[in-house]
Amino acid sequence: MGLVEEIKRRKTFAIISHPDAGKTTLTEKLLLFGGAIQTAGAVKSNKIKKTATSDFMEIERQRGISVATSVMGFEYKGIKINLLDTPGHKDFAEDTYRTLTAVDSVILVIDGANGVESQTERLIEVCRMRDTPVIVFINKMDRESKDPFDLLDELEAKLNIRVRPLSWPINMGDRFKGVYNIYEKNLNLFSPNKTKISEDIIQFDDLNNPQLDEVIGDDADKLRADIDLIEGVYDPFDVQAYLDGKIAPVFFGSAINNFGVKELLDTFIRIAPQPLGRLTSTRFVKPEEEKFSGFVFKIHANLDPKHRDRIAFLRIVSGKFERNKFYHHVRLNKEMRFSNPTSFMAQDKSVIDEAFPGDVVGLYDAGNFKIGDTLTEGENMFFKGIPSFSPELFKELINKDPLKSKQLEKGIEQLTDEGVAQLFYLQPGNRKIVGTVGDLQFEVIQYRLEHEYKAACSFTPMPYHKACWITSTNPQKLNEFIQRKQQNIGWDKDNNPVFLAPSEWLLNLAKQDYPDVTFHATSDFKTRIV
Ligand code: G4P
Repeated sequence: MGLVEEIKRRKTFAIISHPDAGKTTLTEKLLLFGGAIQTAGAVKSNKIKKTATSDFMEIERQRGISVATSVMGFEYKGIKINLLDTPGHKDFAEDTYRTLTAVDSVILVIDGANGVESQTERLIEVCRMRDTPVIVFINKMDRESKDPFDLLDELEAKLNIRVRPLSWPINMGDRFKGVYNIYEKNLNLFSPNKTKISEDIIQFDDLNNPQLDEVIGDDADKLRADIDLIEGVYDPFDVQAYLDGKIAPVFFGSAINNFGVKELLDTFIRIAPQPLGRLTSTRFVKPEEEKFSGFVFKIHANLDPKHRDRIAFLRIVSGKFERNKFYHHVRLNKEMRFSNPTSFMAQDKSVIDEAFPGDVVGLYDAGNFKIGDTLTEGENMFFKGIPSFSPELFKELINKDPLKSKQLEKGIEQLTDEGVAQLFYLQPGNRKIVGTVGDLQFEVIQYRLEHEYKAACSFTPMPYHKACWITSTNPQKLNEFIQRKQQNIGWDKDNNPVFLAPSEWLLNLAKQDYPDVTFHATSDFKTRIV
């Protein structure tokens, strides 16, 4: 098969949701359909349970699960599907944001009873920034849920995206009878079954067919009225508007009962985008270009403490990736080859000889990679849009054992390269400020520094509210700002100045007082030069 055919048969996506909406359950059902697993219950949830926040072993165990399920590849109807896992816990939201840079579309799972929850809003915001196509699956219709029309209104209002139902539930909870597939014009009747796939499909080209009353009784008239209303209110489904990230098709179902999942998957393989190109610091790279290129979006420490190596996850953007071939590590200006690149099929890992755009390969690495690194066949360019977001919690890292300061330095450098947290230096004194999006990361850092690097540390909270990267077209004005705000200026690992704002109010004041300085909430503005 040639490069173009390989690209055409691939779809790379992520499932996102608020914890407990059913992401793990849906993932498992998709893998069942794809034949990648044989029985339900094989995929472990990678969510860190609320009760486990101070249980380090639990964190380690969870890390192990999440590396195994980082990428789940499976085949369905001739399509190679790469499903990238995203951590459910909100303290790891930044991990999720970065994973979203490596996919071409997402499926959003909503709990029908809870509607749109807080974490969902933020995740979709990140998708909207990049116009990532979204399909919505409203789950748990076997339970009492919100009214489906209210759910659609809530999606539009809270997620700021237009929606278009492609299936419609017939009642809910105990009275849930099934789903009408608006797209295919057929009725899928509900028979709760956690392991088998429902086949009870009846074609209804005309909903006025009296047979409908025989099949679903009193609910028939309600369904007719609902569908009339939908066809009146919503425009016909426009695939291009979905691909442009402007409209989200919506499906209803019950993941645990395998209901509505096939409709979702069949539509997904038909409409979801094939691997897309990406913008670099110099030009746009198309997937079908002959020359290989890709970027690292995630780094995971090896679980085996005897080996300090890590796995860097590389998304292939263009060309064919080959084992043992030399590639150019752009940031380090270094040629590297990989003797055992790994692919992931559900729970299994295997060494691969080649991989194509849309695929994710795991590269064993002894510390050469940082998140955002680019590999090419020689061209000097960086893939853009793998941002660091402003952290929300800041603490100073204090070395508890002066004899181990080298280990501590190395440890915190490597952990922040992995993207566990962000590191800023305060001058004078090279004080280290660690910024995270959640408290859990501080525990992870402390634990890992102690166990992997034998360095003891403690943290002192710092009263910062936000970190904003600062730039200006006028170097003199930038310098003036840095001099005036010295107490609150940190330097990131690439030596870019960052304003550590004590409060939103003082940040706004600084923006007013220094109109020549631009404040960036993400590090995306950086175009790094080799
Ligand atoms: P997450 O990954 O998004 O956090 O959610 P997960 O799939 O773990 O599902 C959260 C809970 O919701 C689980 O119950 C799961 O069984 C249940 N669930 C998922 N889909 C459906 C559905 O369609 N209908 C109903 N009624 N429940 C659903 P749990 O009690 O937390 O865990 P478990 O003991 O069942 O594993």
